[in-house]
Amino acid sequence: MGIKSLSALSLMAMLITACSKAPEPMPVSTPEPTESKSDTLQGGTDYHSFANPDEIRVKHLNLDLTVDFAEHVLSGIATLDVERIKKDVDTLVLDTRDLAIENVQVDGQAVPFALAESDTHLGSALRIELPAGANRVSITYKTSPEASGVQWLTPAQTAGKAHPFLFTQAQAIHARSFIPLQDSPQVRITYEATIRTPKELLAVMSAANDPDTERDGVYEFNMPQPIPSYLIALAVGDLAFKSMGERTGVYAEPSMLDAAAKEFEDTQAMLEVTEKKFGDYRWDRYDLLILPPSFPFGGMENPRLSFITPTVIAGDKSLVSLIAHELAHSWSGNTVTNATWRDLWLNEGFTTYLTYRIMEMVYGEKREQMEFVLGRQSLQDNIDSLPEQDEILAIDMRGRDPDEVFSDIPYEKGALFLRELEQKVGREAFDQFLMNYFEHFAFQSITTDEFVAYLNETLLKEHADKLSKERIHEWIFSPGIPSAAPEAQSDAFTLVDAAREQWLSGQLAAENIAAADWNTHQWLYFLNNMPESLNIEQMMELDRAFSLTNVGNNEIAHSWLMLAVKHWYEPAFDRLHRYLVSIGRNKLVKPLYRALSETEAGKAMAKKAFEEAKPGYHPLTVKANEGFVQ
Ligand code: BES
Ligand code: ZN
Repeated sequence: MGIKSLSALSLMAMLITACSKAPEPMPVSTPEPTESKSDTLQGGTDYHSFANPDEIRVKHLNLDLTVDFAEHVLSGIATLDVERIKKDVDTLVLDTRDLAIENVQVDGQAVPFALAESDTHLGSALRIELPAGANRVSITYKTSPEASGVQWLTPAQTAGKAHPFLFTQAQAIHARSFIPLQDSPQVRITYEATIRTPKELLAVMSAANDPDTERDGVYEFNMPQPIPSYLIALAVGDLAFKSMGERTGVYAEPSMLDAAAKEFEDTQAMLEVTEKKFGDYRWDRYDLLILPPSFPFGGMENPRLSFITPTVIAGDKSLVSLIAHELAHSWSGNTVTNATWRDLWLNEGFTTYLTYRIMEMVYGEKREQMEFVLGRQSLQDNIDSLPEQDEILAIDMRGRDPDEVFSDIPYEKGALFLRELEQKVGREAFDQFLMNYFEHFAFQSITTDEFVAYLNETLLKEHADKLSKERIHEWIFSPGIPSAAPEAQSDAFTLVDAAREQWLSGQLAAENIAAADWNTHQWLYFLNNMPESLNIEQMMELDRAFSLTNVGNNEIAHSWLMLAVKHWYEPAFDRLHRYLVSIGRNKLVKPLYRALSETEAGKAMAKKAFEEAKPGYHPLTVKANEGFVQ
């Protein structure tokens, strides 16, 4: 990786700066993240940014970038408008990672800057000396081909096989790998951008997109609402657009477009029920972008344009809760934002709660109950394997890489907590509370403590007889799940349990299981709850009866392949290999790599797949799995 050569480049940049008669470059040192001198955890302190927004705060970004597919480099100028908070401070501190800073200018004049040595998790602080009174600064820079927040795909890695593709993924702390900025969720900025691409490609961003824009290789964007840096996103490829409703549409490679529009045709209905219940949708349009399968997440809630894995296009809408989830972030996350990564549960827990509600409103109670049972089981699996300190909603993230602290806790435990609040005060009162909460904190970034204070002032006051501070504290600051938490139950799963038991006890042959009408959730529940004692003959019998090795649904395939690894069912290994080399979504591949790594023979298979897949994997997928194949 080019860290060494980058610091050489930045040294050169400083020399250039010095040559252009600017004051001497500042000494290079590694500054501590703001306020981290204290040993006690400070709520509200962002331990994952070097920036100094409490002194000088970035308010607006103007980006002018050229996309170079040959070199895998974005290059151009980021112009930042800042607000001077402390009048006597002239040093603007930004976050960067592996960026080559060519020059920094104010009013066309070079100003001194220094790029600190790189911290493994946080990258390098960029310190810029602003002349007195200056509040606009332009940084000319280039990204590294290894930028952690950018994936460059060859034509072969796309559906169309004819054009290259590029996408960014900024959450949690990767925006700094493609834009020098204050990369903290408590800094909200508006932005505009000009993106220059090869003429035949289309660029889209987390901003206002014009589906009818001329394909001329120069694309203009504007995001008029202040957003945190982790929501800045760009994708470039051979993209087409199809409308799905008045305010909703989908961008995808042409060959995927119709299937995607069909699969996600309920997006408009989801949007409408959500705003009716929880307050206006504040972002104008809501479009989806379908990415190539290497996208490392299921989805990413980039405002106005969620980024979506193609692995959820199942043909029967069985996996569309992902869309409900990314849409729900338009309220919880994008309108009200976590102030630090410790507070991630405010984004993901609220969103997971809203997702259940949306699924119930659009697809009915039965569907919601099944998804709740599956979510609840997955949470329990996490709790059984995580260390206690990682089971806490308001998790201590100091010194840790947010990418490595990823679990169901902020999602399902956060949502379970809100479900309990709802059950205690009643749905009507809770919905009103949520609507007020989104309104009250709109376009702000808040901490767990601010949420708790708001809860104390509102719901807790109104329902003092039903809620207690101690219980709320237990949910947020203790490991595990409080006793007597809401239970998940689904009648649709009762018959699945019965079928599994009868089959396991030999009373029923697999081919006689009445599974013809089972839906995806029932299959997931059937497979995810197989006992350790399952044997090869039983795996074979299931496969003969239901062709599970060839199942099309990627989630069912995941559950089946997990069983195949655990019980060493070799007939599925071909599919397992194809699965691992064609999908980059970490939630699907990482548990498989982990399970494989537990035996010698498994590790050999994992190694083979990983080496073959690696050139096509996203940097995050490489980082998350390389430890399993060493
Ligand atoms: N915002 C997250 C993805 C994320 C979280 C990226 C933290 C980096 C750091 C997104 O909304 C998400 O939760 N995706 C899930 C969706 C699932 C829970 C429905 C995913 O990708 O699996
Ligand atoms: Zn999410």
